[in-house]
Amino acid sequence: MGRIHLRNLLARPADIRVVGVCDPRPDQIAAIGLPAEVAVFPDSRELLGHPEIGLVVVASPASLHSSDVVSALEAGKLVYCEKPLVTSMEDHRRITALETHHGRAMVWVGFMRRFDPAFQALKADLDSGAIGPISHGILSHRNPSVPESFTDADYMLETFIHEFDALRWLLDVEIETITVGGKRRTNSGLMDPQFVTLTTNGGQRVMIDGHITNGYGYDIRCELVGERGSRSLVDYAEETGISAAPHATWATRFSGAYRTAIDACIDDVLAQRHTGVTSREAERALAVALSGIEAQRTGRTVSVGVG
Ligand SMILES: NC(=O)c1ccc[n+]([C@@H]2O[C@H](COP(=O)([O-])OP(=O)(O)OC[C@H]3O[C@@H](n4cnc5c(N)ncnc54)[C@H](O)[C@@H]3O)[C@@H](O)[C@H]2O)c1
Repeated sequence: MGRIHLRNLLARPADIRVVGVCDPRPDQIAAIGLPAEVAVFPDSRELLGHPEIGLVVVASPASLHSSDVVSALEAGKLVYCEKPLVTSMEDHRRITALETHHGRAMVWVGFMRRFDPAFQALKADLDSGAIGPISHGILSHRNPSVPESFTDADYMLETFIHEFDALRWLLDVEIETITVGGKRRTNSGLMDPQFVTLTTNGGQRVMIDGHITNGYGYDIRCELVGERGSRSLVDYAEETGISAAPHATWATRFSGAYRTAIDACIDDVLAQRHTGVTSREAERALAVALSGIEAQRTGRTVSVGVG
C-alpha cells in the first residue's frame, strides 16, 4: 500500500516534495525504485525529526499504526494513515488526546471508498431521494486470498471496516448492533465466509457477506433498497452476468480512489483545512469492528458502544 501512496505523491504537480521514505526492510525499499532526490531514513525517529516534513503517510502494518501515528503527532506532524487507524479504543484515545492538545484535527484516515467514483455516484443517487428512504441493504466483500496468519479479528479490523465506514457515510447513519455467523475453513482457523447483519439508527437492516479466500478475484458489491426502488454497485462482466472478477486485487479496483483520497488530503493540508475522514469518524467504524469481534466470539448480537 505504501508503494501506491508513494507513486501517487510523486505524480503530484510540484506543489509538494516527497522528502523521504522509511521501511525497516531494505528489500522493500529496493523494490520501489526510488528517484534519487527521495531520501531513505533508517528509522522513523530520524524522519520525524526532519524540519521540512509536514505530513507523514503511515502505511505500516495495522498493529504499528498507533505508535507510528502517536510519534508523528508528538513531533507536530500531520498524518495520512491507512485504515484501520488503530486497533483498540485505548490507542484511539491517545490519538484524539494529542489532536486536542494541538487544538486541531491532524489525522486523515484512508477510507478511500468515499473517493471512488462508483461509490460517489451511488451516494449522489441516495442523497437525491431517487429511491426513497432506504429500508435495507446487501453488501459483499470478496477477495481471492489472505495470508495464513489472517485472523477473525483481522476480518473485522482490516476487511469489513471498509463496509462499516462506507455504510455510515452512504446512509448518514450510525450502526447500532452487529451479529456475525459463518463457516470455519477446515485448513485454517479462519471463519470464511462470514455473514454480518447490522442494524442502524435509521431503522435499516444491512447484511454483508465476506468471502476473502474465494480464489477468483476481488469483488465488491453493494445494493441498497429503498421504498421506490433499489440501487446497485456491481463490477461484473455485463455480457455474461458472471462475476469473473474484473479485478484481481484491491490495488486495481480502487487505484483511482487511492490517488484521489491522498490528493484531497494534500489539498487540505495546503489550504489548512480538513475535509477528509477524521480520527473521530474512524472511531465509529472501529467501534463497530471491535463489537464485531465480540459477536464472532460469542455468537450473540452485540450493541455498538456510543464512544
Ligand atoms: N485501503 C485499502 O484498500 C488497503 C489495501 C491494502 C492495505 N491497506 C492497509 O495498508 C496498511 C499496510 O498494508 P500492506 O498490505 O501494504 O502491508 P505489507 O505488509 O504489504 O506492507 C507493510 C510494509 O510496512 C513495512 N513496515 C513494517 N514496519 C514498519 C515501520 N515501523 N515503519 C515503516 N514501515 C514499516 C514493512 O516492511 C512492509 O514493507 C495496512 O494498514 C492495511 O490495512 C489498505
